[in-house]
Amino acid sequence: MRLTVIGTGYLGATHAACMAELGHEVLGLDVDAGKAAALGAGRVPFHEPGLAALIARHTASGRLRFTTSYEEAGAFGQVHFVCVGTPQRTDGDAADLTHLEEAFARIARHARKGALLVGKSTVPVGTAARLADATAVEVAWNPEFLREGFAVEDTLRPDRLVFGVRTRRAERLLRGVYAGVLQAGTPLVVTGFATAELVKTAANAFLATKISFINAMAEVCEAAGGDVGKLSEALGHDDRIGGKHLRAGVGFGGGCLPKDIRAFAHRAAELGVDLGFLREVDAINMRRRDRVVALARELCRGRILGARVAMLGAAFKPDSDDIRDSPALNVAARLGLDGADVTVYDPEAMDNARKAFPLLGYAVSAGDALRGADLVLHLTEWPEFRDIDPAWAASLVACPRIVDGRGVLDADRWSGAGWWFRSLGRPAPRWEGEDAEIRW
Ligand code: UGA
Repeated sequence: MRLTVIGTGYLGATHAACMAELGHEVLGLDVDAGKAAALGAGRVPFHEPGLAALIARHTASGRLRFTTSYEEAGAFGQVHFVCVGTPQRTDGDAADLTHLEEAFARIARHARKGALLVGKSTVPVGTAARLADATAVEVAWNPEFLREGFAVEDTLRPDRLVFGVRTRRAERLLRGVYAGVLQAGTPLVVTGFATAELVKTAANAFLATKISFINAMAEVCEAAGGDVGKLSEALGHDDRIGGKHLRAGVGFGGGCLPKDIRAFAHRAAELGVDLGFLREVDAINMRRRDRVVALARELCRGRILGARVAMLGAAFKPDSDDIRDSPALNVAARLGLDGADVTVYDPEAMDNARKAFPLLGYAVSAGDALRGADLVLHLTEWPEFRDIDPAWAASLVACPRIVDGRGVLDADRWSGAGWWFRSLGRPAPRWEGEDAEIRW
């Protein structure tokens, strides 16, 4: 089939490449000419494992092209996927639908007779119906569940597909688009617009709730002397609970979960439904960042001013260079404002971090960040940080103090190598010359 993908950011670029991989002829459209040209030349402007190779292969074969012209896209496509961003508005918690509304209006103006406009962006429930009622071209909603770092895999082999449709014809067209995925046995839920929109926001709200639940348990563990790592492991063995998205730490960030739960609570309130628990989910999440700042202070015995802090991690999670609402950079910026001399290192997110936080220091490697540090904070769990030899790290720093904000470093190994080791929700291991006042 001939498909267009409007908006070639994270979601759109991945969707376009994966649709080409499924055998379709795909035209990606972006209003940013630089982005369209880079993708057309096989260059991906962000880090996502496997995506660059896929885009290079399909642009070379001619099955995947990019443009800035809505006229060209309208003439080309039978099905148009709209993948533009719906960020949080600057004046509150609601989603900003400006780009989405503009994309729908512009492609509808040029679409061929019988075309289908398919929304993939995360939207407040009611958006699809409103857009459909405002256009002469048929609309469907097909939410996306991909995770950064696994975007290609999640698109080609998703857990499920959801089609929000008003007609059998729209369902048939979408079944054609995803024929290869459906043949592989992927579950499909066909439903109306409202449910399709809600599946996405409910899924992200549930994931955020799960993370904040275990982080609330981390708070209790800190108060009671428990170990949230073991608690999470034991809970995860219960199939009804499941261990995924149950890792305690500095909490969730990124361009999706934080803004999606706020927009969802906001939309529900407009509909007269109180989802106040999502505000608590948000609050627990933000408290974990406060806790890291408090631990940093505690380990530096209150002397943050002038302390040299090595920050391992800047991306909101590993295998990504995305720094949107990154817990690591939030903590880095706060310590920087308090007078700490913060040096950040991340394997992929350095350029983005430097642009957004130009006043922080940046190192060229983990070793470079560690050299001379009074305190180390580990806030994005890249494998390269997990593999650091604590004895080697101890030989570089001025003072061997570390907070593991992701709960993945081996506490005994680090403290065995002489480190004052603290991890969120886990008891401090014993170390030589231990000081009782910095244990909980
Ligand atoms: C999330 C959802 O997982 C996807 O299903 C959804 O499609 C996507 O948002 C979206 O709406 O587009 P993503 O933001 O890529 O995907 O990242 P996650 O893997 O969900 O992680 C989100 C944050 O939670 C990260 O900061 C991560 O470090 C943190 N996290 C995750 C935890 O703190 N604990 C966990 O157990 C899991």
